[in-house]
Amino acid sequence: MEIGVGLLGGGTVGGELAKRLLEDHAAILAKSGIDLRLRGVAVRELDKPRLFPSRYIVDRPEVLVLMPQVDLVVELMGGVDPARELVLSALDLGKPVITANKELLSLHGPELFARAADKGVSLLFEAAVGGGIPLIRPLSESLAGEKIERVTGIVNGTTNYILTAMDSDGMAYHEALASAQRLGYAEADPTADVSGGDAAAKAAILAGLAFGQWVNITRVYREGITELSTVDMKFAHQLGYGVKLLAVADASSQGPAVRVHPALVPTGHPLALIRGANNGVFLEGPSIGELLFLGPGAGGRPTATAVLGDVILASREFLAGTKVAPRVRFGNGAVRDFSEVETQWYLRLEVRDAPGVLAQIASVFGAHQVSIKSVWQEGRGDGATLLLITHHAREDRHRAAGRDLEKLEVVRQVAATIRVIGASP
Ligand code: NAP
Ligand code: HSE
Repeated sequence: MEIGVGLLGGGTVGGELAKRLLEDHAAILAKSGIDLRLRGVAVRELDKPRLFPSRYIVDRPEVLVLMPQVDLVVELMGGVDPARELVLSALDLGKPVITANKELLSLHGPELFARAADKGVSLLFEAAVGGGIPLIRPLSESLAGEKIERVTGIVNGTTNYILTAMDSDGMAYHEALASAQRLGYAEADPTADVSGGDAAAKAAILAGLAFGQWVNITRVYREGITELSTVDMKFAHQLGYGVKLLAVADASSQGPAVRVHPALVPTGHPLALIRGANNGVFLEGPSIGELLFLGPGAGGRPTATAVLGDVILASREFLAGTKVAPRVRFGNGAVRDFSEVETQWYLRLEVRDAPGVLAQIASVFGAHQVSIKSVWQEGRGDGATLLLITHHAREDRHRAAGRDLEKLEVVRQVAATIRVIGASP
């Protein structure tokens, strides 16, 4: 039996998926037994060059969703409107939906998953986190019996590409961002990538799956890479660290704490070795210890592979003709504020180089119960720079110490504060 696929979006990922559905039809049929037929691709600009023949182009996505020849809907347009309405409308018609839209899921996940459960159809989203890395299904199915305690990872390909290009290739920030856009890694509005918003949406989804509790995106602490300076990347290297944009979700008795921010990672740590648009996610649990998922985190081709896997699975379930039970259930509960989490900081202070300066700085940290692990000095006189790494202390104590350091007459500027993750080098 044929499965009619209606594709909403024919851009970087959608265009690649349409091409694969057409060119690899026989190979997919031979390998999976599923006879996938592309019925149409909804786009905005009708005359743009595409990776698939123009006869498939449809100008009204809502009509494509309604077509009786469309059994299954793939949403690859991105954004919330009109994606949300279209997904709901497909689910209401009993049509399985596959999406890669982390923004939509992080904002409207509970509503969408509830509707899919109510209608007994699949809502699959393997490509929403980690691009081509099989991560969502292992986390929600293979590890359903594990009590996941921590998720730590690089989940945004664009920012990892930019940081690698700036760090290793000496590329300027804007040049690296433009290159990531050309290569199809960035979101339509790359602010979502560089501000940490895309990674925050993915972190919320991963936390929900890992801990079985929905984490509202507004409760995810977020810092992007726009404030990062190459000066700190160079100092980080000297101290034995690389700089990465990390997503971290911790379980605790007070609820999960979820955050996205740049971090110094020891150069020998597997996450420090992840280059370009690749992603890497560590899952930690009492029985599995550590699992690392690693691979291409962005780009049309790998992401289309993840979507195709979902299309084949959803088709099998559709052909079985029975109602699909929800794969994931999300409870409600408290979310722990990031300010209560224990963190370790790197600070770059521009200071006056005079006797007693270090003692004044140490006393500020001491007053906030933050202990200093190491101190280095660069330069002399008025151009002196102090680099400090602290021991673990509550995030709010670090912040309070940072504010009080600004008030010291001997500190000309707290020039950078970046968190440190992983064992010390
Ligand atoms: P994209 O290149 O911007 O493609 C979006 C497609 O949707 C375009 O074909 C666009 O039409 C169409 N579209 C947007 N709004 C529409 C509307 N209102 N009506 C009809 N068509 C509309 O985006 P993408 O990179 O393929 O990403 C698609 C989704 O996958 C997003 O949710 C993204 O976050 C997610 N994702 C992307 C990647 C990646 O590496 N790119 C990886 C994982 C997940 P036009 O072509 O005419 O503009
Ligand atoms: N813009 C996203 C990224 C695409 O760079 O990771 C993959 O989700």
